[in-house]
Amino acid sequence: MFALRDKITLISGASRGLGRALAIEFARQGASVIINSRRTSAAGLAETEQRVRALNAPVLSVLADVSQRADVERLAGEALARFGRVDVLVNNASALGPTPMPYLVDTPIEEFEVVLRTNVTAPFMLTRALVGQMLARGAGSIINVSSDAGAVGYPTWGAYGVSKAALDHLTRVWAAELEGTGVRVNSVDPGDMDTAMKRASEPDGNASRWTKPETVTPVFVYLASDESARVSGQRFLAQQFLAAQRD
Ligand SMILES: NC(=O)c1ccc[n+]([C@@H]2O[C@H](COP(=O)([O-])OP(=O)(O)OC[C@H]3O[C@@H](n4cnc5c(N)ncnc54)[C@H](OP(=O)(O)O)[C@@H]3O)[C@@H](O)[C@H]2O)c1
Repeated sequence: MFALRDKITLISGASRGLGRALAIEFARQGASVIINSRRTSAAGLAETEQRVRALNAPVLSVLADVSQRADVERLAGEALARFGRVDVLVNNASALGPTPMPYLVDTPIEEFEVVLRTNVTAPFMLTRALVGQMLARGAGSIINVSSDAGAVGYPTWGAYGVSKAALDHLTRVWAAELEGTGVRVNSVDPGDMDTAMKRASEPDGNASRWTKPETVTPVFVYLASDESARVSGQRFLAQQFLAAQRD
């Protein structure tokens, strides 16, 4: 219980889906949470905030587009102004790209760039904005949310898959550069989850075969907690982690 007591955590993209599930579970585990999404989903973010507040956890909502540098700086600044530090950063916000999902040859270049900015440049910018104060304390955990689309070349998952592959490599390089500092960087592939993104990607998919985002939170709690203090540069598969926990 309370694996995240006194941890200050920032979760991008928490107006729905996995981000909301993480905000609620982190709060349940004793953390303070900074939650974020863009203005277009302010109502969803407010609902997440309400559910976190109901757990008596300190919470700060910041509407910001993490693909934009000025927004990232404001988000990090507001988080540090309110809580004085951020111990855990979860780079969860993500763009799927156009739907129905097109082949690369049909993918508009601007849309490709938006996916890369949201899924790669944003985690880079957020990490850059928050890593200094983590280094100053010699502790911190950064968790990037990846996907199997980053490991397998699925047709029509081009922009998204390329971005997740890049995010996994960003994870490895940050981890190598930060080795020995106490700041660690890992990525998690949560597997298929029943969320708005999944439904947009596969409108005819069988949602009953997709897991609820709430079920994959244990691997994130583990990586955010001191129990994983020596773990860095790893790519976790949520389902594998859950299976090992059951054994
Ligand atoms: N669902 C799956 O099956 C699955 C599988 C593998 C990996 N993943 C990964 O899991 C993570 C969560 O996905 P999900 O399925 O929960 O997706 P989701 O339901 O679409 O939620 C995505 C969240 O990110 C926010 N967001 C998107 N672009 C943003 C931006 N530029 N700035 C700030 N917030 C932004 C969204 O809010 P707004 O758009 O309104 O801002 C929303 O809160 C993602 O990294 C995704 O790639 C999902």
